[in-house]
Amino acid sequence: MAPSANSSPVHRERDLLGQTVLIIGGSSGIGLETARLARAKGADIILTARNPDRLHRAGLALGASIAAFDATDFDRLERFFDALPRAIDHLLVTGPGPCYAPLSEFDLAAARRDIDAHLLLPLQVAKDAASKVRPAGTLLFMDGVSGRRAAAGLSLIAALTAGLPALTKALALEIAPVRVNLITAGLAGTPLPASPLSDEIDGPRGRPADIAALAIHLMTNTAVTGATFDIDGSQLVGG
Ligand SMILES: NC(=O)c1ccc[n+]([C@@H]2O[C@H](COP(=O)([O-])OP(=O)(O)OC[C@H]3O[C@@H](n4cnc5c(N)ncnc54)[C@H](OP(=O)(O)O)[C@@H]3O)[C@@H](O)[C@H]2O)c1
Repeated sequence: MAPSANSSPVHRERDLLGQTVLIIGGSSGIGLETARLARAKGADIILTARNPDRLHRAGLALGASIAAFDATDFDRLERFFDALPRAIDHLLVTGPGPCYAPLSEFDLAAARRDIDAHLLLPLQVAKDAASKVRPAGTLLFMDGVSGRRAAAGLSLIAALTAGLPALTKALALEIAPVRVNLITAGLAGTPLPASPLSDEIDGPRGRPADIAALAIHLMTNTAVTGATFDIDGSQLVGG
C-alpha cells in the first residue's frame, strides 16, 4: 500500500503546520526551547512571561505573538484567555520554579505563592483554556522530580509533586477530548534555583531540548492523555 500523505517524512517534520502553540513561561529555558521546536515544526507561537524585554526578544526571534503578565495573577490570566483572537491547539505551562525551604525558614505567604504557582495555576489554566483549545489539542504541565525523594526543605514541593499526577488525570477526564499530560523533569541546566539535592546528582542530566522534544511528542501523539512522564537523565534511577 502506498504511504499516506501523513506518513511522509516531510509531513512529520512540519507536523504542527497550521496549529497554534501557546507557552506560558515561554521566554526562557524549557518553554523557549519548546517554542523553538514547535516553530520549526510549522506552528504559530504565542509566548507569555513577566519580564517584557526578555519576552520581546524571544517573540522577535521566533516571530511569535507575546503577552507580558504574571500567570499567577488569575484575573489577568482569565482576561488573557478571553482576549485570545482564535482557538489554540496546544498549551504548555512552565513558569515559576519551586521554592525550597527547611522548616525553620518556613514562610506561610511564600508557601501559598508556591501552591498558587504549582497547583492552582494548572487548574486555573484548564478552566480558562478548556473552551479555547481545539478538540485533540493538549494541555501540558511541568513539574520536577526532586520532590519524589525525601529531603529537608522539600516538604511542600513533595506534597505538590505527589498531587500533580492525580490532578492531571482528573483534568484529562473532565476536559476530554482535549488531552492533558504532565512532564516531570530532572535538573536541566537552566537558571532555576538549585534544589537541596542538586549536589548529590552527578550523572547525566536532561537538557531543555530533550524536554522540548517530549513536549512536542505529547502534542502530536493523540493516544496519550492523563499521563505523567519522567525525563530526568536517570536521576531517579540513580538515587
Ligand atoms: N530546569 C530544570 O532543571 C527543571 C527541573 C525540573 C522542573 N522544572 C520546571 O520547569 C519549569 C520551567 O523551568 P525552566 O528551567 O524552563 O525555567 P526558566 O528558564 O527560569 O524559565 C521560566 C519561564 O517562565 C517565566 N515565568 C516565571 N514565573 C512566571 C510567572 N509567575 N508568570 C509568567 N511567567 C513566568 C519566565 O519568565 P519571567 O521570569 O519573565 O516571568 C521564563 O520565561 C518550572 O516550573 C520548573 O519547576 C525545571
